Amino acid sequence: KSELIHQLENTIENIPDFPKPGIQFKDITPIFLNPKLYEEVIADLADFSRGKVDAVCGIESRGYLFGIAIAVALEVPFVLIRKKGKLPPPFVGEKYDLEYGSAEIEMRTGQIKPGQRILVHDDLLATGGTTEAAAKLVEKQGAKVVQFSFLIGLKDLHGEERLKQFNATVHSILEY
Ligand code: PRP
Ligand code: MG
Repeated sequence: KSELIHQLENTIENIPDFPKPGIQFKDITPIFLNPKLYEEVIADLADFSRGKVDAVCGIESRGYLFGIAIAVALEVPFVLIRKKGKLPPPFVGEKYDLEYGSAEIEMRTGQIKPGQRILVHDDLLATGGTTEAAAKLVEKQGAKVVQFSFLIGLKDLHGEERLKQFNATVHSILEY
């Protein structure tokens, strides 16, 4: 195991039964109390994508915490994918299913360009529903998702299966 993984495991807090009974919540906020560790996370995620992408798309809200820093490290644009109703027009949207009901995410039109190679980044890959919708939103606009990156991947929920359709490479620093 790498030193980075070891340090993250000791930093991320596991909160049982939050937000619902039976769910083990991974609290990443202690990472931001440790700027050196944060820098190492960004270095790892930036190394994965360096030279391979033309822009980074980050998903509101925790996808912004690392996504913007990855884009700055790579010197490529960062594009915000937001939850419904936050962005002024023109924008494009994509619906996705939640455990109960559905949600929608949106992106300003024209911020990614047709043909661009895109990294879709989020903090966590759980069921993959959020990330799948984000990738569809990118491809709707004629760009190509070539990579997905996450701080954490939850293996048991099989999110990676839902991302296979995009033929992109997937990187999670930590897997549980
Ligand atoms: C969490 C997490 C991912 C998503 C993963 O975000 O940050 O974005 O859920 O779940 P999935 O793979 O099952 O779709 P959440 O919607 O809780 O909002 P937040 O990032 O604004 O906290
Ligand atoms: Mg999120």
